[in-house]
Order: sequence, then C-alpha cells, then structure tokens
Amino acid sequence: MVVVTAPGKLILFGEHAVVYGEPAIAVAIDRRIRVGLAANEGAQQRGFTVNGFELSPRYHSFIHRAIQQYYDDDGPPLTITTDSELPSASGMGSSAAITVATVGALFARMKKFDPASIAKVGFDVEYTVQGRASPIDTSTSTHGAAILLDDTARDALLWHLSRDDQHWYIHHQELPRLTLVAGNTGVHAKTGPLVAKVRRFVERSGFARDIVREIGELTLDAADALAEADHERIGALMDRNHELLAILGVNHPALERLVKAARKSAYGAKLTGAGGGGSMIALTDDPERTAAAIEKAGGEPIIVEVTTRGVTIEQSTEPDE
Ligand code: MEV
Repeated sequence: MVVVTAPGKLILFGEHAVVYGEPAIAVAIDRRIRVGLAANEGAQQRGFTVNGFELSPRYHSFIHRAIQQYYDDDGPPLTITTDSELPSASGMGSSAAITVATVGALFARMKKFDPASIAKVGFDVEYTVQGRASPIDTSTSTHGAAILLDDTARDALLWHLSRDDQHWYIHHQELPRLTLVAGNTGVHAKTGPLVAKVRRFVERSGFARDIVREIGELTLDAADALAEADHERIGALMDRNHELLAILGVNHPALERLVKAARKSAYGAKLTGAGGGGSMIALTDDPERTAAAIEKAGGEPIIVEVTTRGVTIEQSTEPDE
C-alpha cells in the first residue's frame, strides 16, 4: 500500500497568460488530496477501482490518464482510494493535486519518487486531459511553497519543462509574510473550457494578445514587489490583474461581488485560477474582517495557510504487494 498526498494551490498572478509563455506566481495551500494505491492481486476480475467504483475515463479523468500512460501494462490492477480537502472546480488546484498525488503514488510504488519527474509527468497528464495547460498548477502542487514560472532561467531554478516549442522554467519564489484570504463562490467552473475560450480570443485578437503581455509584465513587477514585501504595490497589481482577466472574459458576477466586498479591507483582490466562478483571493492585514465581508457577499472564506510541503509519501508499506 502506498499513500501520497499533494497540496492545492492558489495563483497570485499570471493565470491564463501563462498558457502563452508569460510568467506566473502561485502558492501551495494547506489543503491536500490523498491518493492510496494497493495491488488488487486477489481480485483480478474486478480490475481497477476508485473508491469502490470501476476506474472511469469520464469520472476519474486525471487518475485514468495517469494510469493509462504511466502504469506498467503487466502490473496487477490497483485499488485506488482518494480523499480531498479541496472543493473541486473551485480554482484551488484540485485537478493538479489529484494528478500529482496519483503520479507520485505510481512513482513511489516503482521506487522512483522524484519531484522533477513527477512535475513533468503530472503536467503531461493535465495537458492531455485539459486540452491545453501550463505547468503552473502541477509544479506548485509538486514543489509546495511558492513558484515563479518564467520562459527564461533565473536564480532558484527547480526544473525546466517544455512542450512543442514552448519552454517553462520553474523557480522557487521567496515570499514575505502575507495574509491571504480566499473566497470560494461555489460556482463550479472547469478549467478546460475557460482556457479554450481565452485561446479563441487570443488567436483572433491582437488586443487580447496585448492584454496577455500586460499580465506577463505585471507578474514580473509583482515578483519584485513580493521580494520587497511592498503590500501596497502587490495589492494594486492584484487589482489590475483582475481587470485584465475580466477583459479576457473569465470573470463572473459572483466573483466580482466577492472581490468588491473584500477590497474594502484589503490591499487588493482578484480572481484566482481559471475564473468563470471558482475562487478569488485578497491580500489583507485584517483577515477576520475580509473573511466576514466575503461571507456576507455570499462566498465561503478561507484564511490561507501557505504550505512548504509539496508532494509527500505518507505511507509505503511492503508488501502491498
Ligand atoms: C488554472 O489554474 C490556470 C490556468 O492558467 C490554466 C493553466 O495554466 O493550465 C487558467
């Protein structure tokens, strides 16, 4: 039996633009997904199961893809169990965490547990299932703490990923003490269709491409503002990033309500992740007040704890096996 966990994430800057090679910054959060794998030797005929149900490409798309692509055909069927502290389709990285925890568990079984390889394979899985993706979510879930992804290598490089002619350099990002409050709208939004919607806009409009570039520039400004712990500047950049994402068409009335309510007690606030519903984040010195404002505006507030624990083997007992 192997048990691996991986954290969710929140994107601070650069979502969507990162798909086109622009930089992005994200943090791993203290809410995890747990995946257990055990060999199903005695019950070959049952095949692979997830929480007691037959493994399905439709309902377990990320797990299914990971197994199909990276599990040895000659291996016994697996009994897979999952457990999540992350609401799904909420912008908090549940897809990345389930992918990374599954790939991590497969690698742990093969005694090849290595974060850079897990990040690479996790990205492949997410890219295939989502249609198109950047590695920001899967790399953040793999590494933990904070990540800066850019198209050139800088100090604190962790690993490099590429696909077709696109290159992403994943770096550890130093974070000052920040108090972030997230607000979940409860409106489920799938990442794939939102990425496809932005892509249609970017492919046909030079204006949209300028917006994407501006998001990239402000993300690098934000990396400097984070290094200087300049809360006012970070907040202003969050507000601008939110406006630019709204122009790209991924805002939602429920998100806008939460962002507006939070800003009264925050340095800045923006949607986080794919948008279209999901969650927002605010940078504040008064988390209780910001959380109360989010709740009053109809959201579920979460005072965010950043975790340094990326993908982790929690249990590996022999034989499982
Ligand atoms: C989703 O969490 C982040 C997006 O930029 C998509 C991606 O990077 O794969 C919207």
